Amino acid sequence: MKKERSWAEPYKIKMVEPLFMTTREEREQFLKDAGYNTFLLRSKQVYIDLLTDSGTSAMSDRQWAALMMGDESYAGSENFYHMEAAIQKYYGYKHVIPTHQGRGAEHILSQILIKKGDVVPGNMYFTTTRLHQELAGGTFADIIIDEAHDPDSELPFKGNCDLNKLERLITKHGAENIPYVSIATTVNMAGGQPLSLANLREVRALCDKHGIMIVHDMTRVAENAYMIQRLEEGYGHKSTAEIVREICDLTDAATMSSKKDALVNIGGFLAVNDEKVFEKARNMVVVYEGLHTYGGLAGRDMEALAVGIAESVDDDHIRARVGQVQYLGKKLLEAGIPIVKTIGTHGVFLDAKKFLPHISQDQFPAQSLAAAIYADSGVRTMERGIVSAGRNKDTGEENRPDLELVRLTVSRRVYTQAHMDVVAESVEYVYSERHLIKGLKMVYEPEYLRFFQARFEPIT
Ligand code: F0G
Repeated sequence: MKKERSWAEPYKIKMVEPLFMTTREEREQFLKDAGYNTFLLRSKQVYIDLLTDSGTSAMSDRQWAALMMGDESYAGSENFYHMEAAIQKYYGYKHVIPTHQGRGAEHILSQILIKKGDVVPGNMYFTTTRLHQELAGGTFADIIIDEAHDPDSELPFKGNCDLNKLERLITKHGAENIPYVSIATTVNMAGGQPLSLANLREVRALCDKHGIMIVHDMTRVAENAYMIQRLEEGYGHKSTAEIVREICDLTDAATMSSKKDALVNIGGFLAVNDEKVFEKARNMVVVYEGLHTYGGLAGRDMEALAVGIAESVDDDHIRARVGQVQYLGKKLLEAGIPIVKTIGTHGVFLDAKKFLPHISQDQFPAQSLAAAIYADSGVRTMERGIVSAGRNKDTGEENRPDLELVRLTVSRRVYTQAHMDVVAESVEYVYSERHLIKGLKMVYEPEYLRFFQARFEPIT
């Protein structure tokens, strides 16, 4: 039998952007100036940027051409209708509200659906999503399977929901106090883990029984669909596009950060099937984002998104995108680096607890590790551990997640295999010198989403 060929980029490069090399001495100064927070570095101080996959994709020539078709009318821009048609065609939701990015959609939907005292179950928290739920008076409740909190579990669908956890919440709080169940494809904070269609169908059945809505955080839905195609029984012959549609059809509404899967540098939307929710959202968007036919976006942004959505569900694209992430993950695994298994779809996550067992969680091991990798090579990564997890909204105590991770996030269509090799070399070197890494203390803590702007100093 013919062996499956390696993944390779289904495109060639026609424009390049220079990268900047710095010395270790310079980087140590930059780190100090940035309070040991990689979010506070300037991009020119970075060599390979694995901070995030958000808004960092390389657009295709088709998307750049689409930018030139921008219809910058205040109302009724042609580009809005193209974007709306693409969302309806590929995702199947009825009504579309454009927003400047994902959290704009989260804000509007949370304010409409959540009342004070409500509980919002979800397959693990995401930082902005949970904050908007809390600001609307709700409390997030984690219903992801236990294995998702275990970096060593090698289950294929670690984004799945535990139906017993959901059922217990419904019994305890009553369906009337659960405005919706929040389902993310894939689960970012668990390490980019997908959920299976079989599991989503079970969640749907339980929600139907109790009349509860499902809201889909579809930020990385194509990546999730690709993993279903690869790993879930019965889906090997379906296209990514078909699977994406099947996922969306099992949910009632969606918030989207188009800056990830959909291959644009800015944008998002809220999509809903319910007429009443749509009417409320259309009313709110004009207060916080912009008119309901642009929602904070330029016409050209919406046109680029219409093209990006179609490209994002292309099987060759998604195979290469996830293939590159898996390439980096396998390389690190082979070198014996402790990473989250199963390898996710948008990045590789280092297990900082195992990497730096001599640093207690109070001294921010993942934050320290991200700083150490930057100091070594100029590769910028980010913390996804106790700093990101923030504080309990009622008690003010620090949340202590089991997962203390450093995310090596791979931008779409941006870096090459050789860049991934350099990243792996740097991580391996830092691992060999790990005993030299010291913990940090937090010296500035902002009130909301502290990981973005917090500052640290080394513990001497
Ligand atoms: N939901 C998920 C799962 C996300 O990963 C993000 C953003 C959002 C919602 C919010 O969207 O940034 O457009 O407002 N994640 C970025 C990241 C910031 O780096 O993972 P946004």
